[in-house]
Amino acid sequence: MTATTIANRGQTLAFPAGFVWGSATAAYQVEGAAREDGRGESIWDTFCRRPGAIAGGHTGDTACDHYHRYAEDVRLMKALGLAAYRFSVAWPRVQPDGSGPVNPAGLDFYERLVDELLAAGIAPYATLYHWDLPQALEDRGGWTARDTAYRFAEYATAVHDRLGDRVNTWMTVNEPWVSAFLGYGMGVHAPGLTSSVDAFRASHHLLLAHGLGVQALRAGGAREIALTLNLAPVVTPAQVNDPGLALSPADAEAVDRVDCLINRQFLDPALRGAYPEQVLKIVDRIAGLDHIHDGDLAAIHQPIELLGINYYTPCVVRSGPGLPANPAYPGTEDIEFPGAYAPTTAMGWPIVPTGLSELLVRLSRDYPEVGLVVTENGAAFDDTVSGDRVHDADRTAFLEGHLRAAHSAIEAGADLRGYLVWSLLDNFEWAEGYNKRFGIVHVDFGTQRRLLKDSALWFRELVQRNGLRK
Ligand code: NOJ
Repeated sequence: MTATTIANRGQTLAFPAGFVWGSATAAYQVEGAAREDGRGESIWDTFCRRPGAIAGGHTGDTACDHYHRYAEDVRLMKALGLAAYRFSVAWPRVQPDGSGPVNPAGLDFYERLVDELLAAGIAPYATLYHWDLPQALEDRGGWTARDTAYRFAEYATAVHDRLGDRVNTWMTVNEPWVSAFLGYGMGVHAPGLTSSVDAFRASHHLLLAHGLGVQALRAGGAREIALTLNLAPVVTPAQVNDPGLALSPADAEAVDRVDCLINRQFLDPALRGAYPEQVLKIVDRIAGLDHIHDGDLAAIHQPIELLGINYYTPCVVRSGPGLPANPAYPGTEDIEFPGAYAPTTAMGWPIVPTGLSELLVRLSRDYPEVGLVVTENGAAFDDTVSGDRVHDADRTAFLEGHLRAAHSAIEAGADLRGYLVWSLLDNFEWAEGYNKRFGIVHVDFGTQRRLLKDSALWFRELVQRNGLRK
C-alpha cells in the first residue's frame, strides 16, 4: 500500500489513491462449526460453558456459520466493493492441541476462504491470534506461560507455510491488552482468571509471541506484517468535549499513567524495544520482573510495516483517592474511571470521533517508521429490521464521523493507509453474546439470512467515491 497526497475533489472529501477499504471479523465470532473437521477446543469454548459468563448463555458454536457460508459472505463483500477482508485463523483448527501435528482439514478451510477472496479481487488480511487459544495450552498455563509464545511462533510458521503464497498481509496478535487484562485480570473474557500478576505475565508473553511470530513469518518470506492494538486517547471527563483543556498535576499524572498501561505498554516494546519506566515500576511492584528475560525486548522489537489500530472510544480517567482496585488497570488504585458526557453506543461507550484523529496524528508523530491501518472501528446499536431494510442511521453517523476524523488526521500528516469496518456481520460479541450487533450486514441468527443494513449501502457509496460527501 502507498499513501499519496489527498485532494478535495469537487463534492468529495477524497482519501488517498490506493486507500484500502475493507471489513473485519474474527474466527470465534463468526465461524461456528465448532466441532467440525478436527477443530480442537479453545478457551472460549470452555469459558462459554461457565454459568453466567456470557449474556444469555450464548456460545460461538454456530455463530454466523461463516465456516459454511464464507462464499456468500465474500459475495457480499464484493457487492460492497471492498478491497480487503481481515479475518482470523483459529489456532485450534490448525493445531487442535496447540502444538504438535497440524490438522490439514483446518488449514483447508482458510485456503478455501483465501482462494474465494482472491477470485473476488479482495485482499486477505490474516490475523493469527484473535483470542481463541487452544484449551490444551491453557491447561499448561496459557499466556501466563512463556512456552505459549514459542508455540505461537510454530503455529505461525504452519499457517504461513500453507497460505504464504497467497496472503500478503499478516497480523500477529489482536489486542493483547484485552487478552491479558480482561482475560487474566478481570476475568470477563476467557480464560476468566482474576490475577493482576497473571495479567502482566500474559501481557509480556503476548508481546513476545508477537515478536517471535514476526520472526517466523519473515523467515517464511512474509512482506507485510502488522501488530493490532486497541488504542485510545486517555482524557479527563472535561477533556472529552474540550481536548485542549489544561489539567491539574494530579490529573495529568493519572492520564499519563493510564496511557502507559493501555497504549505505551504495547507500542513502546514493539516499536522502540523498551517498556516505559512507569510500566516497569508498576509491573515490578505487582508481578515482579522475573518473567521479562534478557533479550526479550530485542525479540519483541521487530521491524513491522503496519500498525493496526482498533479504536472505539477514549479512555476517561481522573485522579481520585483510595478507590477499589480496577483489575483492568492494576496500579491505578488512586485513579477513577468515570463516564463521560457524550452520546453512547449500545455498548455504553461514549462516541468521540475526534479521539481517532488525535490518536492517528500522535501515532505518526511518535512512531513515524510504521504505516497505520484502522483494523477496527464501528459500533453496536439496537437495530430493528423493517421488511428487508435495516435503517441504522446511528451507525452510519458513527462511521461518517470517524471517517471525517480519519480524513482530517491524514491532512494533518498521519500515514493512514486503510480502514476496516468492524464488523462485516453481526456476530458473537464475546461476553455480550449475540445481543450487541456491530455488523453493517444484519444476521438473523435463526435462519442465517444476511441483509445489508443502510450503513452497508452508505459504505458502498463511500468506497466507490473513495471519499465522503462534503
Ligand atoms: C475489538 C475486538 O477485536 C473484537 O473482537 C470486538 O468484537 C470489538 N472490539 C467490539 O467489542
